[in-house]
Amino acid sequence: MTNGNRGDDAAETSSQRSVTAGHGFATLAIHAGQEPDPVTGAVVPPIYQTSTYHQDAVGEPRSGYEYSRTRNPTRSALEECLASLEGGVSGLAFASGMAAEDVLLRTVCRPGDHVVIPDDAYGGTYRLLRKVLTPWELSWTAARVSDVDSVRSAMTDRTRVIWVETPTNPLLGIADIAALAALAEDAGALLVVDNTFASPYLQRPLSLGASAVVHSTTKYLGGHSDVVGGAVITAKPELGERLAFHQNAIGAIAGPFDAWLTLRGVKTLGVRMDRHCDNAERVAEYLTSHPAVSAVFYPGLSEHPGHDVAGKQMRRYGGMVSFRLAGGEEAAVRTCNQARLFTLGESLGGVESLIEHPGRMTHASVAGSPLEVPADLVRLSVGIEDADDLLADLDQALHA
Ligand SMILES: Cc1ncc(COP(=O)(O)O)c(C=O)c1O
Repeated sequence: MTNGNRGDDAAETSSQRSVTAGHGFATLAIHAGQEPDPVTGAVVPPIYQTSTYHQDAVGEPRSGYEYSRTRNPTRSALEECLASLEGGVSGLAFASGMAAEDVLLRTVCRPGDHVVIPDDAYGGTYRLLRKVLTPWELSWTAARVSDVDSVRSAMTDRTRVIWVETPTNPLLGIADIAALAALAEDAGALLVVDNTFASPYLQRPLSLGASAVVHSTTKYLGGHSDVVGGAVITAKPELGERLAFHQNAIGAIAGPFDAWLTLRGVKTLGVRMDRHCDNAERVAEYLTSHPAVSAVFYPGLSEHPGHDVAGKQMRRYGGMVSFRLAGGEEAAVRTCNQARLFTLGESLGGVESLIEHPGRMTHASVAGSPLEVPADLVRLSVGIEDADDLLADLDQALHA
């Protein structure tokens, strides 16, 4: 049984695997952590729907499994696969992206510490800091993470974490991961990258110096809008140990079936992401020339201010596109309501295209804060349907 969710175990088990870090992304996605089941040879890791395990003798749990909050083989398979895809030594799977963020922040911060967050962070991350962790005496400052100087000037002598999304949600700003990793290191802080929008197929922050990567696996990693989950991955064995301790102590773990669904999604991540990128490029291009659209945010466009940095650190530019309507908030809401093939809904990263109004939906919790999003903004999660059908749907929605 391979359980790469502890730093020292990862070293111990790597020699037993038939896949190694030298294999390509798609090979790792399909095989890392997913050796055929040792008992039956099942090629898909079974759903170990069990809370506890028979022990061979008192104090001798079999293969280290004693209780499923601490370890479960289906979850271990997902954790090992995610660690391998991000190039980390330790991966941990959680009940949701927010559970992963909470454990990460409470593992590395102490009361009195300070965190820098993006000025267009995911609303739930902002809510976690403002409503849950501020009373816990964590302070935070919102900074423009696409500008290293803005992050530098937001830092204090108590800054413990620079928290970055890139691309950001929902304005698709790009942060220079390597530059921010160097800034964090100089200050004795940690750079955490929320890699949800890019996925490890497009971007591997640990290889650029980040201390940890966090994911809402609900999105591209799961990929089918059928499971909520989160993950934290680090290349630092000691940090991995502390995170695993907190994962077990706090207990917001991914259940076996959720871990299994996520792992099934991960197998096709590379092919899905390429199609998401193909379609998003077509959509961004179409919107750029539409008279009803006043601005398009997509890092693949050469006029996007983060285009060069994105080109340096991403394989391609992702499946998310945001745009503003010349007709203001009313036009943005109307476009969302008129879409037919694009489903009006929150979330992103599934095979089906979604459309939403961030100001009234995903980012309603940042209204009135420095993170407030433009009222005329529409966000698209471009799925993997036929691109012509997606363009036709946008066309009719924009003309309505
Ligand atoms: C960038 C980003 N990070 C984190 C989260 C939180 O993840 P979850 O909804 O799985 O708790 C989300 C959710 O939309 C997100 O978009």
